[in-house]
Amino acid sequence: MITAFTVNGQPRRLELDPATLLLEALREHLRLTGTKCGCDDSSCGACTVLVNGQPALACTLLAAGCDGADITTIEGIATDGRLTALQRAFGRMGGAQCGFCTPGMVMAAKALLDGNPDPSDGEIQAALSGNICRCTGYVQILASVRAALAEAAGAAADAARPKAAADAQRRAAGPTPPPQAAEPQSAHG
Ligand code: FES
Ligand code: FES
Repeated sequence: MITAFTVNGQPRRLELDPATLLLEALREHLRLTGTKCGCDDSSCGACTVLVNGQPALACTLLAAGCDGADITTIEGIATDGRLTALQRAFGRMGGAQCGFCTPGMVMAAKALLDGNPDPSDGEIQAALSGNICRCTGYVQILASVRAALAEAAGAAADAARPKAAADAQRRAAGPTPPPQAAEPQSAHG
């Protein structure tokens, strides 16, 4: 059967057996191997992708059931080849050790931060609770998400700074005088 969905912003049409899992469609038919298969029974989170913006386990979904959906995988979140703050933070903070769980962790964290830009540690841990790290780097994974949040907060502060400086300059200069009324023209020029 034909299944059509959007993957990482690109429309895709695949001829698939109706029993094909989304994970198989992504990895074997589209060669998007960033999404991992850690257990195949919905217990590890390594296969986490976004389906219509929500985190989903690609090993539990039939590809046909995703017909018409908007799917995002780990390959689709960088912009113009630049890794996201989350991806960079996982590398910098040791959140990725062997890296096998990392795509699923990053996608689950992205889903959280897309909906909640200022989560508590408890909210981060709850959002990642379905993702297992065999390297057991949970402390570094939490630190990675916090580092990405700190980077985003810093970028927002930098973006606000020129406007704040301009506002302060305007206040220091005092109120703007009203525009001068034009001198009435003499009838004789
Ligand atoms: S491979 Fe999907 S949850 Fe483990
Ligand atoms: S970094 Fe190795 S499984 Fe998580």
